[in-house]
Amino acid sequence: MTQAESNRAYAPVQMEVHGPVLLVTINHPPVNALGLPVRQGLAAAADRLEQDPSIAAMLIVGGGGNFVGGADIREFGKPRQPPFVRDICARLEGASKLVVAAIQGAALGGGLELALSAHYRLAVDGARLGLPEVLLGLLPGSGGTQRLPRLIGVSAALDLMLTGRHIGAEEALALGLVDRIGKGGDAAKAGLTYVEELLRAKTAPRPTRSAGAVRGDEQDLNALAVARETQRKRSPLLLSPHLIVDAVEASVRDSFDDAMVFEQRVFQQCVDSPQRAGLIHAFFSERQATKVPEADRGKARPIEQVGVVGGGTMGAGIAVAALNADLRVTLLERDAGSLARGVERIENVYADLVAKGRMTPEGRDAVLHRLTSSTEYAALGDSDLVIEAVFEDMAIKHAVFMELDRVCKPGALLATNTSYLDIDEIAARTSRPQDVIGLHFFAPAHVMRLLEVVVPRLASADAVATAFAFARRLKKVAVRAGVCDGFIGNRILSVYRRAADYMIEDGASPYEIDEALRSFGYPMGPLQVSDLSGGDIGWATRKRQAATRDPKQRYVQIADRIAERGWFGQKTGRGWYLYRDGARVGQPDPEVLAIVDEERKRAGITPRPFKPEEILRRYLAAMINEGANVVHEGIALRPLDVDVVFVHGFGFPRFRGGPMFYADSQGLGSILADIETFAKEDPAFWRPSPLLVELVREGRNFASLNTALA
Ligand code: NAI
Repeated sequence: MTQAESNRAYAPVQMEVHGPVLLVTINHPPVNALGLPVRQGLAAAADRLEQDPSIAAMLIVGGGGNFVGGADIREFGKPRQPPFVRDICARLEGASKLVVAAIQGAALGGGLELALSAHYRLAVDGARLGLPEVLLGLLPGSGGTQRLPRLIGVSAALDLMLTGRHIGAEEALALGLVDRIGKGGDAAKAGLTYVEELLRAKTAPRPTRSAGAVRGDEQDLNALAVARETQRKRSPLLLSPHLIVDAVEASVRDSFDDAMVFEQRVFQQCVDSPQRAGLIHAFFSERQATKVPEADRGKARPIEQVGVVGGGTMGAGIAVAALNADLRVTLLERDAGSLARGVERIENVYADLVAKGRMTPEGRDAVLHRLTSSTEYAALGDSDLVIEAVFEDMAIKHAVFMELDRVCKPGALLATNTSYLDIDEIAARTSRPQDVIGLHFFAPAHVMRLLEVVVPRLASADAVATAFAFARRLKKVAVRAGVCDGFIGNRILSVYRRAADYMIEDGASPYEIDEALRSFGYPMGPLQVSDLSGGDIGWATRKRQAATRDPKQRYVQIADRIAERGWFGQKTGRGWYLYRDGARVGQPDPEVLAIVDEERKRAGITPRPFKPEEILRRYLAAMINEGANVVHEGIALRPLDVDVVFVHGFGFPRFRGGPMFYADSQGLGSILADIETFAKEDPAFWRPSPLLVELVREGRNFASLNTALA
């Protein structure tokens, strides 16, 4: 290879002439993101197209299996340098010669916007097209909000941009987003054939800006109104979905050029918003959380056969999650009746999918074919992983693990789904503590994406690596946690729930607490959540903890008074709220307020008013302070791990990044000052975390600890 050839081979954008066609290949691993060198290469290709009289058309493809994965994340947060994608798009669209994009793999974000500026588009099987900017608090800012509706119509464009979902080649063809599907999987080959065909037919350039799918009629206006209303209900606090609707409205109202100016303005508004920073933090943290010390040292063992012990709420959900990941599952229960109920729980999930038309009966049968069930431990002998989800009782867990130790093959990973119990102690009951780990799922286990991987003292690096690989297979967001009461999530929850209980006893109504948290961006307040999951669960935990509770600790009995009446929430028709006639949304209950009043009197408390802001400050300060403790003790590796747990397991508003990111955005000094103020009334509860104190003293933030293991 000559030097010139080798330079060309490594150029991020390569040009090759095939007869009258300039084949432009973007080659910028890993996903051909539109970084500066790619943009420069594309601008050079546009020059060549205009200037070279022997060229009649341009075909753009991506090398290495993808078209273009999107913007270059390495440029995030830095000043952007020209040429910009939007300018390249304008040049290609305005070219007097034919421009065609042939899509293979991902054409996402700016990648799809680039393809939209071509005159014709082809996608091969396996292509994934989408505009996921909304998920990062952004909107397509290189003409996507204008070209997409003009190409596929207002309603379909709103759907793609507001959900950020990816679509395949077939759906793209049906929507008119691509003009043809190329067979055989080779985009360059299929694309060249297509371009030659278009040239033979003397096809003229067809700028998307002039495409006619935006009609401005009643249907378009209706689609805009519906989208606006849906966003108002679903995400009233989010900026970018609202601005996406505004931008599409501009496509109906304004000329293309005016609407492009508008798009630029609202795009910048998104870039400047703290929401974008929060969403990007959440996005990167999920990936970062899988970087754990054991991942490099350990080797993941293959998992195909999974045993689940206990087919209750969690066990059944875990079995479904594993079945959905194409694994074989054996469910074990303590007796035939419980086993039948467990299997039925699993079958019901699929029956529901079939009833809703989201699965075919054949599809369901194929999945259930991979499920076996037994009451005999011997049935778990060939399992690569066994997950225990029996009652939360140490004696029962011990007995189960001793059986597992007896029957499981060497090297099988033995996991417990315990919420609070000491996994070191469980591991110690086996002859193979190196293979015992916690896999803490969240209910419903087949829906919630969070999985805490709880690592006991003696667990091997292989065991941890296997657990993370398993989480990936289940498409879960995995976070490493150390052993303590409640691990990361439930431990922190128990502290800020106490802060909420104290506020209720001191004068805030339960409904004010929920309202304050919804206004912060939670989909539900903590008491609504308690009603949804069942007040009996927390009550049972409190009763269990009663014996070991420090008698000096302030204990609010209001929740117990409610539970004692059998008011467990939605399932019993009342809890903190009243659910009349099976209603899913509860109404404030005057009798609950009377119970609260009575309890205040009994505790000798004169109620005082709480403003929503104070409710938030106390609730979040308690959460952040315990989050700092959890990091300080090494239960969480980094603050970002706490953020991921709360965004994915506890409804913390994703656009705020997570509690630790939020704390940084407020300034740790102000959080510490709040805690010190609250400590004056209850020094036992409000004890500043040593880590928080240290960071404030050194003028650092939580983010400075996130990079330690990056
Ligand atoms: P559950 O009461 O719904 O189910 C427990 C199941 O285990 C029952 O079906 C029971 O028959 C079975 N079982 C009991 N002893 C057994 C034995 N010796 N051998 C085989 N099966 C046995 O309980 P749930 O809610 O599913 O909880 C299970 C575990 O998951 C507990 O450790 C709990 O702390 C934990 N967990 C619960 C969450 C929740 O939201 N419910 C969330 C995360 C963890």
